[in-house]
Amino acid sequence: MRKRIFVTRAIPEPGIQLLREHFDVDVWPDPLPPNRENLRSRAQGAVGLLTLLSDQVDADLMDAAGPELRGIANYAVGYNNIDVNEAKRRSIAVGNTPDVLTDATADIAIGLVLAAARHFQQGILQVRALEWRTWEPLGLLGQDLQGKTLGIIGMGRIGAAVARRLVRGWNMKLVYTSRSDKPPIDAELGGRRVHLDELLSTSDIISLHTDLNPGTKHLIQRDTLALMKRDAILVNTARGGVVDQDALYEALRSKQIFAAGLDVTDPEPLPSDSSLRQLDNCIILPHIGSATFDARNKMSIMAANNLIAAANGEPMPFPV
Ligand code: GLV
Ligand code: GLV
Repeated sequence: MRKRIFVTRAIPEPGIQLLREHFDVDVWPDPLPPNRENLRSRAQGAVGLLTLLSDQVDADLMDAAGPELRGIANYAVGYNNIDVNEAKRRSIAVGNTPDVLTDATADIAIGLVLAAARHFQQGILQVRALEWRTWEPLGLLGQDLQGKTLGIIGMGRIGAAVARRLVRGWNMKLVYTSRSDKPPIDAELGGRRVHLDELLSTSDIISLHTDLNPGTKHLIQRDTLALMKRDAILVNTARGGVVDQDALYEALRSKQIFAAGLDVTDPEPLPSDSSLRQLDNCIILPHIGSATFDARNKMSIMAANNLIAAANGEPMPFPV
């Protein structure tokens, strides 16, 4: 009998086809995630799970899957949805999909910087609502970007890709926070590692690229927002939980900072009563950082290869 794989949502065909060469592949057919009960029952007996960041993968789900389970391949670079320690304890391999979505995600961050700096949201809404009456000398004035100071919080692959775009393209000065010094970044982009407070108080553009963990949860809250410049633009393409959304709402509403661009929120989707969506100076995208044809195809193949390796008792090519 062929071993079973459960894939928790339809993903691009290349990865599914690769899996079908090796396994009996069960793909959750609905566009919305399986609920807990379905997730548990479909996981049962699987040698591998291909999961999304909207699936909570914990001890309970590993129990439900049973003793056959050898690998969990997250269809994402982030893996805060997975209890990695619990998996490790059970010798279940966990993998992710780094690198292939770095440029796609960095591009979304740049898009949010431009959109937030130049009022794309109000402009688009004006045109749609037939409220574009004339060329306005005083209308929709935004921030220049040339030569401004960029603050990257979390200088990993995506943070560096965003920095490259804005330093080379817009001649920005670069400061960053990071767990360690990054001499190659300093040499390449003239960056300087600084304390968070200095980054917050000197940056015109602040872009978040840290993973979500207990140390970064609500890193951006009332006190850290209070350090930012009045012209500051905050961009989050990392994880919604890094930002305290109530505090961000207050800072944007009171114009304590200029604007924000978010590709991630907490929770996702944003609840219908979230006041953030009412603000002109808050642009929100539905978590589309990696949503390019190329990135998503490559992610599907990486996740499939992670599961093939795990099922064969080999190390995953892309372990977390
Ligand atoms: C998306 O947010 C990812 O982690 O890949
Ligand atoms: C604006 O459209 C200009 O030509 O200055």
